[in-house]
Amino acid sequence: MHKQSQWKSSTGFILASAGSAIGLGAMWKFPYMAGVNGGGAFLLMFLVFTIFVGLPLLIMEFTVGKMGKTYTTKIYEKLTQKKWLNIIGWNGNLAVFILFGFYSVIGGWIIIYIFNVALQIITFSNDTLSAVQFEAVIGNPWLTIAGQGVFILLTMVIVMMGVEKGLEKASKFMMPLLFIFLIIIVIKSLSLDGAYEGLKYILQPRLEDITMEGVLFALGQSFFTLSLGTTGMITYASYASKEMTIKTSAVSIVAMNILVSVLAGLAIFPAIAAFGYKPTEGPGLLFKVLPKVFDQMAMGQEFYLIFLILFLFAALTSSISLLELNVSNFTKNDNSKRKPVALYASLLVFVISIPATLSFSILKGVQFAAGTIFDNMDFLVSNILMPLGALGTTLVVGQLLNKDDLKTHFGNDKFKLFMPWYYLVKFVLPVVIILIFIVQFI
Ligand code: TRP
Repeated sequence: MHKQSQWKSSTGFILASAGSAIGLGAMWKFPYMAGVNGGGAFLLMFLVFTIFVGLPLLIMEFTVGKMGKTYTTKIYEKLTQKKWLNIIGWNGNLAVFILFGFYSVIGGWIIIYIFNVALQIITFSNDTLSAVQFEAVIGNPWLTIAGQGVFILLTMVIVMMGVEKGLEKASKFMMPLLFIFLIIIVIKSLSLDGAYEGLKYILQPRLEDITMEGVLFALGQSFFTLSLGTTGMITYASYASKEMTIKTSAVSIVAMNILVSVLAGLAIFPAIAAFGYKPTEGPGLLFKVLPKVFDQMAMGQEFYLIFLILFLFAALTSSISLLELNVSNFTKNDNSKRKPVALYASLLVFVISIPATLSFSILKGVQFAAGTIFDNMDFLVSNILMPLGALGTTLVVGQLLNKDDLKTHFGNDKFKLFMPWYYLVKFVLPVVIILIFIVQFI
């Protein structure tokens, strides 16, 4: 068996976990969720949940990883001597499988757009990149299956070759570049005629817009962006050395996620208002609106292409981590099985992702519970499996683990945050998660 490897520096740890956590969640899912659930009210709930629920939970997952130091379908047993508790790890593993399944749909769209824009199949001059164009692209079953196949294949090759480290190095400049692009889009978007209405929509919380469903989605959104409950962050911290400060990392990840989400909101909503789109467009929102913004810029087509490549990069740093989680859980850190496991896991993901992709074309009419098959996969992961996983971990940490051990791994406590954090995790957060759960079923 391979010894668990370790990060050499805190920066490496922060970069890798941020690369994994910041992906489609903040840039693609946040604007679409906010648009469907009341704009400003959703942003407010998302911020409250992310800071008061997400952050302590992220610190909790980091602490567990640092204490347990092994793959997540084993870590609960190792920490508590209770084998059945590994079920929390398996729950996370299942979540990650399904998540990768619908994640790759969007990854596939990005790839299709990259090709279309690069080959000038889509050009800006005649305004073809409209909502209609989007429907034509996404409504094509074979094209979208091919797109997502390429996305999964890219992910698999990277994981098989074990070049994630190279990618992390690249993310040092790719991520800041993406960030600069986002800011440029925000500025352009805000300067459009009629932008103010959209700005108001996303920044002004109208309390009458808060629905119970919106509360649930906002909680799900903060879980999704912070990767909570999928055990992804536990895995990252299991490679952290004793001295690494998990609190700084957790705060940076939360701050970056909020920043990217807000920027995505500021980029999209003013443009929605300016171009007369509806905020409730759903998953296609970003893809329908952004080209219109780039269309207003000099060299828009070229900039759009660069933006799409950076966006793909952000999605890939998350998807390789999704696949990596499965690989480490099934190989149990035995590297000789890495390639076959990566292959089988990818094939399985490809199979389950097909109905998700077809939800936008031939299976559009198949609607139940939360909506299309795609919507249901997302709902199952973000609003059920992730909260369940996080709930399980709060119970383990609060009820079964030794407080002094936790304190040691929590690290230096200059600001005396350990006790408040501990009581939050022990008493408050499990109740919050359970309450929101119960409400959803009444
Ligand atoms: N947080 C990721 C995003 O915003 C999605 C995600 C959830 C994830 N759980 C994960 C990514 C586990 C990697 C590993 O896009």
